[in-house]
Amino acid sequence: MKLIEVETYEQLSEKTSELIINKIKNDPHTKLGLATGSTPLGAYKRLIADHTKNGTSYEHVITVNLDEYVGLAESHSSSYRYYMNEELFNHINIKRENAHVPDGTAEDLDEECKRYEALIDNLGGIDLQLLGIGQNGHIGFNEPGTPFDSVTHVVELTENTRRVNGRFFKDIDEVPTRAITMGIASILKSKEIVLLISGKQKAEALHRLLHEEISEQFPASALKSHPNFTVIYDKAALEGV
Ligand code: PGA
Repeated sequence: MKLIEVETYEQLSEKTSELIINKIKNDPHTKLGLATGSTPLGAYKRLIADHTKNGTSYEHVITVNLDEYVGLAESHSSSYRYYMNEELFNHINIKRENAHVPDGTAEDLDEECKRYEALIDNLGGIDLQLLGIGQNGHIGFNEPGTPFDSVTHVVELTENTRRVNGRFFKDIDEVPTRAITMGIASILKSKEIVLLISGKQKAEALHRLLHEEISEQFPASALKSHPNFTVIYDKAALEGV
């Protein structure tokens, strides 16, 4: 596990965007694993600014997102596909058919999970997977107790996750009760993993990641067994203030 400590959220975003841009410059056919949530927003803004100013091209880049709510269509403003369109895809020259998000409206969700996992494998694996972390250590929607050998699957969201994510909805009752998520094993197949941890509300999660044993009760701890795993965190996450 490699640790990169920065002072501020802005620096964390800068560092993250640099890593991604360098990756794409070295290999224009990079397969990027992407995450939603608040944490990657600053990095996405910088990717857009760099694309606009310096012309970094996403023409051959393929992206694979971690998760999606069950039942929310692309047009729903709280779906993760909508978030990705708004926060990144609409502003760079990625081909829509190369930007993958699980389909939460699929009629057969188990089939959709199988299709998604096969897609990752057929791509030859993700080159760089970006991750955020939940206060309880979840990665993607893999909540505590998720087996480390899990692949893409449907999950029942915990009440806590629904409450925390309620900020992206008009009302907590609107938050779906299920989601499709890449599993822990799907994530661990990536060649490189970068986990972003920002803010005092994540201090306990960072502390547990750094100091606790690997355990299925703390999903992010699985990443510690990965040979190319980097954590970028800011002072607020380290100090809890
Ligand atoms: P956040 O979400 O970036 O909005 O904090 C991360 C997560 O819950 O995985």
